[in-house]
Formats: sequence, structure tokens, C-alpha cells
Amino acid sequence: MKKYLSIAILLVLLVTIIPASLVAAAPPAQGEDYIVQADDSLSTLADKFLGNLFGYWAIMRSTNQANAEDPSYAKIDNPDAIEVGDKLRIPAKEDADAFMADFDPNMFKIGDLFAEGEAGQLVVGSWWTAGGEAEGLAGMLNIYGEPYPDVEIVNATVAGGAGTNFKAQLATRLVGGAPPDTFQLHAGLEVETYSPNEYLQPVDDIYASEGLEEAFPPDLLQLLEYEGHYWGVPANIHRSNVLWYNEAVFEANGVTPPANFEEFVAVADTLQAAGIQPFVLGTKDGWEAAHIFEDVLAGTLGAEAYRGLWTGATSWEDPAVTQALENFKMMLSYANPDHPALTWDGAGEYLINGKGGMMIMGDWTDGWFTSKAFDGYGWAPSPGTAGTFVALSDSFALPKDAPNMENAQNWLKVVGSKAGQEAFNPQKGSICARTDCDPALFNEYLQSAMVDWSQDAIVPSMAHGAAAKESWLTDYKDVMTLFVASGDVAAAQTGLQQACVDAGVCQ
Ligand code: GAL
Repeated sequence: MKKYLSIAILLVLLVTIIPASLVAAAPPAQGEDYIVQADDSLSTLADKFLGNLFGYWAIMRSTNQANAEDPSYAKIDNPDAIEVGDKLRIPAKEDADAFMADFDPNMFKIGDLFAEGEAGQLVVGSWWTAGGEAEGLAGMLNIYGEPYPDVEIVNATVAGGAGTNFKAQLATRLVGGAPPDTFQLHAGLEVETYSPNEYLQPVDDIYASEGLEEAFPPDLLQLLEYEGHYWGVPANIHRSNVLWYNEAVFEANGVTPPANFEEFVAVADTLQAAGIQPFVLGTKDGWEAAHIFEDVLAGTLGAEAYRGLWTGATSWEDPAVTQALENFKMMLSYANPDHPALTWDGAGEYLINGKGGMMIMGDWTDGWFTSKAFDGYGWAPSPGTAGTFVALSDSFALPKDAPNMENAQNWLKVVGSKAGQEAFNPQKGSICARTDCDPALFNEYLQSAMVDWSQDAIVPSMAHGAAAKESWLTDYKDVMTLFVASGDVAAAQTGLQQACVDAGVCQ
């Protein structure tokens, strides 16, 4: 039943509504209810009832509208994921045709597929679909929903770690005039990608009204400021350079987390001899190797020289970069062969089922493990990075064309608030951007991250928008993807240098 029409935008669109207690536009005057049977798909139903394979958008819309009045109807978050037994509202053909006549599947207003609340909608764009991050976002949306029960909240996610799919789709939507009301944006130079002066609304007034300059640490504020304005309100701080390991596997093999690359080899050899995959990663989405390599760079060069890579103060032709590539190549020699087929969380399953020993990934992994009810994990700074915190921050930004501007502004206030951040971060696996959250709400890992954040050398993440602009990140990612396949250290170093030159930072 699940074979779907190949419309790219559809394949990546995962949309959910929270909550359902909202006032909908009246369902179509005629039309009929239908209960999903085995082997049904929305497109075959659209063909059958409406004589138009693409009419599934109209079914999605009318079912969502019916759901807002009567929860016995399904909520269709993703048109590719209807379930047997779901109750659909098939619109009258006339209504469906009228809707489809104006519907552009490549550039529709997301809100058009959902009910309208009495106070409009809030369409929130992000890529948080994995366990932990999805729950964290839902927690913060619930905090928003309390004072604004008449706003229909549309959780418009596009799956793909690090925003691989989301960012491209968002850029098209901003340019095409069909943006969400607010969207996930990394603090740092990522904002440049979206031509903020043209497409975004500065949020300085929200910083002023909510006292946010007093709520966030100065380093973060500096990262958030671009061309004299704030463009996003940060929800969190994430750490990139964490080595996660399976505690039982480590204990059974008498090893402890490796503090440096020599120790990594020793631990990996021991695990390998015991039939455990020593090091696991997924490279499916094209950013994961770039992420791990930034941590290897920090662990090989040290905080100061790592920072210099992004400002031109450290040369990419330095022998230390050669060494970092050698270190990464060594780690990859212990890696799971199926990594090209796995996402970051897919790779994490190796740790949960005890078949894998170690993995380097950001601390959204803590939220993910928690969402999987797995508590047999330990953590340490990735090799060579004790005392260094490779940091990134997720903020929410405001498009100039936000369809529900006031709702979006109120959302940003929640994002910046203590209540919003305390609802979000413990589940997300991040610490608050604010300095006044209650540590007791956070698990042991996150409490340790808070301590490290307050005392470590803080350096920016490249893979997640903090260190450099997006075009440089794209080139850097491409080099690392090739490197994972080829293992060619010299070619990778030349490519990394070239990427820096192309970014206008190196000579
Ligand atoms: C990062 C983002 C995190 C997490 C991660 C995995 O870019 O900042 O919040 O979502 O990607 O997708």
C-alpha cells in the first residue's frame, strides 16, 4: 500500500498537528467517510473517489479539517503513512477539484493542508523527527499551546539529520513566498544562507521585551548577532564532540573510554578481538562524517588551532590537519561496513543492542537513547577533546512573510522563556541556552554538559552552522564524503584547503 507517487516534496514532508482541540473550517458539504483498508494508499483512493491521483492532497486537507472538529477522524501528518483503520473524510469531488485547481504541489502554503484555529495557525518548521528531539519539540509546543488554545499548531517537520533536506526546502519556500511561520536555524553564519535582509524579520524587539540579552551568555549572543541584528531566538546548546559507548560492552572487555587516538586504537583492537564492532557511524545523510571529522580536528589540533581553521589563522595545509585525516582514517578502519545505509540514529542501534562499542555524535544522542529507554550508555569527550566543548545552538527564526506573524512572535517568546526551555531541553538532549534553568530537571549526562559548558574552551561546530557559512559547509561535507569512500588523505587535504579558499577565508 505504501508505494507513493514520486513527488520529492511529498516524500520528505512529515507534518503533525498538536493539539486537536481547535475550531476547523466547516468540512465539505458533501463527501463521505472512508475507513482505510489493507493495500489502500491515499493516491489510489484519490484516483478512485476523485478521479485524480494527486487529489490525495485534498483528502489530507479535508480529513485534517474534520479531525480538528472530531478526533475520530485521522490526523494525516504524512500522506505516505496512513494506517489500516484510519477514518478519512473524502471531500466532494467538486470541492476537491476547486482546491486542487489552485494547489501547487511544489510550493503550497503548508497551512492550507490543516484546519484554521480561531486565532489562526502556528506553522513550525524543523527537522526534529528522531526520538528525543520530536518529544522535546512537542513539549515546547505544549507550553505554547497553554496560553494560546485557539491557535492551530502545525508541526511541519522535514526528516533528515542536521537539516539536510529541510534547509534546501526552506530556502525554496522563503524565495517562493510560502514559508512556515517560524523555522529552525542554527546560531552562527547559517543565517547568511537565507539572505536575512531580504527574507527574514530581525527579532531584536523580542530580545528587548523578554530581556533575552540578560538571559543568554555573551558568547552565544555574539554568535547570534549578524549584521547588527538578532535573527533567531535560541532554544538550546548542543555539544558535538561526545563519544558514546555501551557500558556493558566496555565493562565486559575491561576497557575505558579512550582519551586520545592511541588509546582509541587499543580499545578498538580489544573490542574487535571480542567480535564487537568497535566504532559505529551512519553516513546516509551526507553530514555525519563531516560532523565526526570536526571533532577529530578539535581532538588533534586543540581548541585554539581548531578555532583558527575557520578564521584563516590556522592553515588547512598544516601537518596537524594531515594527522587529523590519518586519525579519522584509522577510526574508519574499525567502522561498521553498513554505514552508508544508516542514519546517525540507525547507527546508534549498534550501541543499544550491544553489537557496537563506540560512536561519536552530538548530544541529541542522549535524548534519543532516553527516548528508546536505553540507559546502558556512557559518555566522554571524543578523543583528544577533554576541556574543549564543540558547540552549536538551535534557534527559531521569523520569515518576513510569516503567514501568522503575531503567533510566530509569541512562539519565539516561548522559545526564549525558562518554561519553554525547561520543557524542551531535558528531552531533546541539550542544555538550556538560558543560564537560569533548573539543573535538577536534567539527567546525569546533561548535568555534566552544563558543567563543561561553564568551564571548557568553547569552539564552534562546522557541521551545524556555527563556524562558517553554508556554502563552505557544503564543500567541506563533500570532501569528507569522498574521503570516507576513498581514504585518500592528500586529496582530502587539498580539497579542504580549496574549500577554505573558495569560502574567501584562505589565500
Ligand atoms: C543538528 C541540530 C540538532 C539535531 C541534529 C540531528 O543540526 O542542531 O538539534 O537535530 O542536527 O538532526
